[in-house]
Amino acid sequence: MKIHHVGVAVDDLDAAIRLYTTAFGAELTHRASNEKDGLKAAFLRAGEAEVELLQPLRDDTPVGKFLAKRGPGLHHIAVAVPDIEKAIADARADGLEMIDQEPRIGLHGTRIAFIHPRSVGGVLTELVET
Ligand code: CO
Repeated sequence: MKIHHVGVAVDDLDAAIRLYTTAFGAELTHRASNEKDGLKAAFLRAGEAEVELLQPLRDDTPVGKFLAKRGPGLHHIAVAVPDIEKAIADARADGLEMIDQEPRIGLHGTRIAFIHPRSVGGVLTELVET
């Protein structure tokens, strides 16, 4: 298993970027936003993995609802997989509940699919094809 990135929900993206770059010496690699998912994001290199900071653009979005309910904090972990179709099929065969039935393009520009947290010990888990 290889951790691709860790997603953290924040209410102030610029403040969070300052925190991670100053406190931990993380390097900001890129920023992205997705109007459909209603969020903006920043990616920071953390060794072989990344930290993905997520700020909702609106309250009525998945990350907006997460922040309202739980406050800022760990949102998801992402696992690198070589073949997303196979990873989804394997997850289904193991009885895991997929949120995304089909791969979609994630903020990294690669194909992703989310597994429901109730299938993975309460942790929202993202498969990322690499
Ligand atoms: Co992610």
